Amino acid sequence: MNILEKLPGALLPWYDASHRDLPWRADREPYHIWLSEIMLQQTRVEAVKGYYTRFLEALPTIEALSRCDDDVLHKLWEGLGYYSRVRNLKKAAIRIMEDHGGVFPRTFQEVLALPGIGDYTAGAICSIAMGLPTPAVDGNVLRVISRITEDDTPIDLPACKKAVRDRLTAVYPHRAGDFTQALMELGATLCGPNWKPRCEQCPCNAFCGGYLHGTAENFPVKLPKKGRKIQEMTVFIASCDGRYALLRRPDEGLLAGLWQFPNVPGKLDTAEAMAAAEGLGLTPREIFRSVERKHIFTHIEWKMRGWYLEVTDCPDGFTWLTAEEIRRSAALPTAFRQFWEEEDHV
Ligand code: ADE
Repeated sequence: MNILEKLPGALLPWYDASHRDLPWRADREPYHIWLSEIMLQQTRVEAVKGYYTRFLEALPTIEALSRCDDDVLHKLWEGLGYYSRVRNLKKAAIRIMEDHGGVFPRTFQEVLALPGIGDYTAGAICSIAMGLPTPAVDGNVLRVISRITEDDTPIDLPACKKAVRDRLTAVYPHRAGDFTQALMELGATLCGPNWKPRCEQCPCNAFCGGYLHGTAENFPVKLPKKGRKIQEMTVFIASCDGRYALLRRPDEGLLAGLWQFPNVPGKLDTAEAMAAAEGLGLTPREIFRSVERKHIFTHIEWKMRGWYLEVTDCPDGFTWLTAEEIRRSAALPTAFRQFWEEEDHV
């Protein structure tokens, strides 16, 4: 017997009684579910709440999203990270306007074909917004299922995800959306990643192998992680008459198209840093201080030294913005914003 057959009967009453009240659970509009699921990839629920509400206030419809200027879009996403997610959101909105008459498609295959939507997101949207029996298998769900079934297949393997998807599809109940969310909810609230699972409170403890045999914390099994590449850099927070030097990042690669402070490779000492600033066209008039900061991306870690400078006469080649302009309209990713926030502007 498929032990997972017991899941809906155990999970749905528990979900009804105890699920969190989250903004994207207020309705089943596909655009809303889609947006929330894209935001929730790699970003915590608490952090997403404010972004979600603000985004929908600014862009209440798929049509508005499809027409939105990229700078505005980046600003709405500022601080969420993984900015290609929001660019794909717009690409998909354009596709929905052009190929689907502005109406969100309603089959799994059509949803899956949209830019930026993979098996997980398509499964989430189709089950939550359309009631289809399409599982959304993310890290939370893999953890829950691997503990219940004591399956030691490394969850990083695509074959593992597919097997879990197939096993779950076979047991999907009529209340498909609630079941999808109940599985996520269990993985987020009782059967979490970095703490001892709260098995005594779990609605699945009567049939969970991990609980019954005391093995829950041995799961999930993961493949060894590859190390992150470390890149050192020197960043200049250069001001001139109350304006700050900013540059646009290239259209391709990490943080494509977003704003940055001028920077050079390597962690430079005072003399080297000032020579490098000069080389960029920034002539230091006063050096205030330096700070050490890091930022972790998925595969790269930046180790940065930031130099705060006053420079002479706003040279060409930069965009010079006031604190208010940066706050209001420039999408400055967290890697750079952390230098900025030390400056008492926000
Ligand atoms: N994580 C991913 N999707 C989620 C959702 N719909 N609700 C809560 N947490 C989630």
